[in-house]
Amino acid sequence: MTTVQEDAAISCSDLVRIYSGEGVEVQALQGLNLGVARGELVAIIGASGSGKSTLLGILSGLDKPTAGRASVAGRDLLSLTRKQRLEYRRRVVGFIWQQTERNLLPYLTARENVMMAMTLAGTPNRRARSSELLDVLEIGRLADRLPSQLSGGEQQRVAIAVSLANEPQVLLADEPTGELDDATSAEVLEVMRGVNRELGVTTLIVTHDPAVSEHVRRTVLIRDGRTSTEVFRSHGEGGEHSVAEEFTVIDRSGRLQLPAEYVSRLQLRDRVRLELEQTHVRVSPAQRVQEPSAQRPTEPGDEEDRA
Ligand SMILES: Nc1ncnc2c1ncn2[C@@H]1O[C@H](COP(=O)(O)OP(=O)(O)O)[C@@H](O)[C@H]1O
Ligand SMILES: [Mg+2]
Repeated sequence: MTTVQEDAAISCSDLVRIYSGEGVEVQALQGLNLGVARGELVAIIGASGSGKSTLLGILSGLDKPTAGRASVAGRDLLSLTRKQRLEYRRRVVGFIWQQTERNLLPYLTARENVMMAMTLAGTPNRRARSSELLDVLEIGRLADRLPSQLSGGEQQRVAIAVSLANEPQVLLADEPTGELDDATSAEVLEVMRGVNRELGVTTLIVTHDPAVSEHVRRTVLIRDGRTSTEVFRSHGEGGEHSVAEEFTVIDRSGRLQLPAEYVSRLQLRDRVRLELEQTHVRVSPAQRVQEPSAQRPTEPGDEEDRA
């Protein structure tokens, strides 16, 4: 009945989000598919405007998709009641945003910010737990400082502590290093990696910064509101290497969409040739075997190098 995977911490299928207003429609998400397993740390990388914040808005329970399905930690995000949604936002997911103003209350100290999140959710042992969290993030000595008395990197560590205050199952971060320099970004990402490894919190980081992929095992690229290439990094004996794979989605009728670059590179159009091999299907231009009277005559081996 549903394609949402039960064991996935995050599962999105055919997610569509259309913003409409003043006669103009923007398709921010155009059938996005994503699965993140429990305990995984994944980066989603894409250019500005590719739909990253829209996706996180939906996963964080702030926004609803126009179509498609999304589930996080076993909750179907489309069928939550108002009360469940509030509970979801307080206890099930934690967020870290790019702008520290959005993460921290400026008139509360680091510790008070962490404790405030617990107060809102009714989490007990607030003082002890806030100390513990600030220590884990190596900012225990800064507990009594206001955000304005902390560096950008320290503020993001406090933001991470706040996001973890109520023991969420999933951590969502939107450009968490967007306002930090390279060295501090790398540090904050390593902190997030440590949190993921030690606390087992499923973590999704969205960013436009390709360097983030160096800190995670799996990177998913997002383009025009759809996920496409995935890059896996492995830390083997021979050092580190990455493998890029292009993915697309096949629907129930067997239709699939090829990436635009592939289509233009091979000048695929109208009809393509399919060959079923033992383990894969080959797709190639049909033109080569068309009659010479076809629209674009081609000699075998001819370089089709026209724009
Ligand atoms: N509230 C909104 N109303 C109309 N269009 C929006 C709104 N939010 C985002 N968009 C548009 O949706 C697209 C995706 O935006 P966004 O998800 O913010 O991308 P990203 O975070 O990857 O930069 C962009 O074209 C953006 O202009
Ligand atoms: Mg954004």
